[in-house]
Amino acid sequence: KANPRLRKVMASLTTHLHDFCRENEITVDEYMAGLDLIIAAGKWSTEQRNEMLLMTDILGLESLIDEITYTLAGEAADAPTATAILGPFWRKDAPKLKMGDSIVKKDMEGSDHASMHGRILDSETGKPINNAEIDIWHTGPNGLYEQQDPDQPDMNLRGRFFTGPDGEYNLYCLKPTSYPIPNDGPAGKLLGLLDRHPMRPAHIHFIVSAEGYKPLTTQIFDRKDEHIGNDSVFAVKESLVVDFVPKDGGSKAKFDLRYDFKLIGY
Ligand code: DHB
Ligand code: FE
Repeated sequence: KANPRLRKVMASLTTHLHDFCRENEITVDEYMAGLDLIIAAGKWSTEQRNEMLLMTDILGLESLIDEITYTLAGEAADAPTATAILGPFWRKDAPKLKMGDSIVKKDMEGSDHASMHGRILDSETGKPINNAEIDIWHTGPNGLYEQQDPDQPDMNLRGRFFTGPDGEYNLYCLKPTSYPIPNDGPAGKLLGLLDRHPMRPAHIHFIVSAEGYKPLTTQIFDRKDEHIGNDSVFAVKESLVVDFVPKDGGSKAKFDLRYDFKLIGY
């Protein structure tokens, strides 16, 4: 017996696909060209690189689904920290680090160190959350995640930190850099065909989780980034745009960023 939800969404998908073909009078050649692109994206996909996800991301699908999930849950836009897409570069089992540690394993040219700190809070009560995990990852100054770049050590610019009873976290990372999504495969080809740029504004990824709370997948974005208004995968939300404040003297960190994460209790 077919699953009722599956039956419903497949019927709807079929209707919309038929309407799309009718409305645009899709020809056999166009249909074949579309299939070729999808087949190529499937062939490019590996464990390291989900080209199909990239392809749907430039169509705004992952961001749309994030938005739907967020509103369906009935979350007020201003209270709990907003979600954003996971993207293709998260890795499980990032190193467990101590508060005050740096996720930077190798100094690369163009690196600007940043001190990032704040608290993990219950969005309803505002109370700090004990033993919350903050999983962070971002690219090097060359715009590449560690697994894309043979010159970076394994698990560079990734780490997991755990709060104490005060809910506080503090760590060192880099001020992030804007970069193109991988542009050498079918997704890049499609962007080119549409005269679209592949850039993502500078961002840092997080998954923040704690027992009894809904895990938060999100990103923060540098307000000063030139691409802040036109992210190629449509993930920017105003409440996730932050200011890296220049820091003077003494410290290796040139920038300071304070950011609190507010989780939704179950
Ligand atoms: C995508 C997301 C990212 O965070 C990233 O760094 C590259 C690509 C994406 O959604 O395709
Ligand atoms: Fe990213």
